[in-house]
Amino acid sequence: MEYVLTKNWHVPDQRKISVAEKNDAYSSLKKVFGMTPLQIIEEVKASGLRGRGGAGFATGIKWGFIPKDNKKPVYLINNFDESEPGTFKDRMIAEKDPHMIIEGMIIASFAIGAHTAFIYIRGEYHRPWEILEEALKEAYAKGYLGKNILGSGFDLDIFTHRGAGAYICGEETALLSSLEGGRGYPRIKPPFPAIAGAWACPTIVNNVETLSNIPYIINNGAAAFKKIGTEKSAGTKLMSASGHINKPGVYEVEMGLPIRTFLEEHLGGVWKGRKVKGVVPGGSSFAPLTNEEAMRTNLDFESCAAAGTSLGSGGFYVMDDTTCMVRLLQFTTKFYAHESCGQCTPCREGSGWISKIARRIESGNGRERDLNLLEDVCSNVVNGRTICVFADAMAMPVQGFLKKFRHEFEEHIRLGKCPHG
Ligand SMILES: Cc1cc2nc3c(=O)[nH]c(=O)nc-3n(C[C@H](O)[C@H](O)[C@H](O)COP(=O)(O)O)c2cc1C
Ligand code: SF4
Repeated sequence: MEYVLTKNWHVPDQRKISVAEKNDAYSSLKKVFGMTPLQIIEEVKASGLRGRGGAGFATGIKWGFIPKDNKKPVYLINNFDESEPGTFKDRMIAEKDPHMIIEGMIIASFAIGAHTAFIYIRGEYHRPWEILEEALKEAYAKGYLGKNILGSGFDLDIFTHRGAGAYICGEETALLSSLEGGRGYPRIKPPFPAIAGAWACPTIVNNVETLSNIPYIINNGAAAFKKIGTEKSAGTKLMSASGHINKPGVYEVEMGLPIRTFLEEHLGGVWKGRKVKGVVPGGSSFAPLTNEEAMRTNLDFESCAAAGTSLGSGGFYVMDDTTCMVRLLQFTTKFYAHESCGQCTPCREGSGWISKIARRIESGNGRERDLNLLEDVCSNVVNGRTICVFADAMAMPVQGFLKKFRHEFEEHIRLGKCPHG
């Protein structure tokens, strides 16, 4: 397969601009400034690139939502909050090839008419932030950023903005509130950020991986990108692989790769020769797959959706046959209860309630009616009753674990303890 994102990760010092340039960094810009913004947007649309931040929305279509008659400043925001448990791929792009991110941001900014762009980076990512700051300085020094970039007449400044460690700040409207200096509270949509985003101006929010694909698309053309992957999920996907596997890490795979192949050939199989009990392909906010389901599912948006889960942000983790699913759900719900921003009653109260019930079952004090109660609470927090989809992101794993591994929960309640010891 052709590597789009990781092709230079093995190169020593790739993060230095002099080395990156030898490997084609910023080479797309000459082409870009000879195109019109509309042509770039059309090229990205034709590539079939879909957002890698979790929702999989078509990138070119999103860029096209910036109003044509707009008189306000336009902003690009690179979402580098990366707080989904199990997801750590954006961090690797920044550490291995930061100039690819900056190049993608320059192209995106030119296409949407932004002269100011931000990288919103989670506070805990200190080293990636330092690397990006250094890379930005180098890019300014070489004239790829600042005034009149490469004599094109196009000006762009990129700033980093460090978050303070709230999962909800990865949600695009909470991110905007945080960037503006307020609390990281999500806002009701519509209006979508492309119409009224940062400081009520048109804003495009894209994930780090999404933007890192852009230089390839410009250099090689939409058709070359579309050739990789599946018909509806073009390109490659970075997978953050963790859990009970022999070779955890970040892997670039062609969309459509069977989970079975990924597990056996890339990840070295399940550790200690054990069997798979479950797999979460897309991160903690999605339903798990049983071993049987996982072995007939592929790593692309459609296949994961058809299996009742999501490719999400590619936070792939594997549970072996000794894993206590009740314990895992208890950890997961504790995280979500802690991270709810608290604005909506169903989410604020529901997440705490769900977490308490999960803890009760895990500690051996669960009651038979607790499983129905969990399902009831979940169905009351989802389905558009809240400002943002965080509530859905919390309910989906709960509903998934109960559906797929209900017998384990029942056994816990019946025995009054964990059968795994
Ligand atoms: C609770 C929550 C957390 C999110 N965290 C992130 C994140 O850390 N990084 C990210 O890119 N998108 C995250 N998203 C998705 C963003 O809201 C948004 O859809 C995305 O940044 C758009 O970029 P894309 O179109 O390139 O995928 C999160 C969404 C929700 C609901
Ligand atoms: S759903 Fe939860 S996280 Fe989202 S705005 Fe409401 S309370 Fe906050």
